Amino acid sequence: MRYDKHIFVCANQKGEGKACCGETKGLALVALFREQLKAKGLHGKIRVQKSGCLDVCSRGPALVVYPEGTYYGNVTNEDVNRIVEEHLIANKPVSELVLNFDTDGKIV
Ligand code: FES
Repeated sequence: MRYDKHIFVCANQKGEGKACCGETKGLALVALFREQLKAKGLHGKIRVQKSGCLDVCSRGPALVVYPEGTYYGNVTNEDVNRIVEEHLIANKPVSELVLNFDTDGKIV
């Protein structure tokens, strides 16, 4: 695998009134992750990029971390440092923000 971890942050913007992560919030999260990863010397090891809809729109802003496939929901700018320190560096997902799914793929 090229990167130790690969993070996709939804920056999908839907029409007015529809639940979505939103371009502004998604791009702000991408910028914050990049800033922190660069500051910690992890720029080439962990990649973060914007993505389209991750199909968890009601819980946006959302992101997913691979290779684990861990989904996070309701992520704020203030959560970025914690996700970087606890999950990306220490490999311990931030359980309060993790989205869990049932066998049908619905959020539980
Ligand atoms: S708009 Fe972000 S998950 Fe659908």
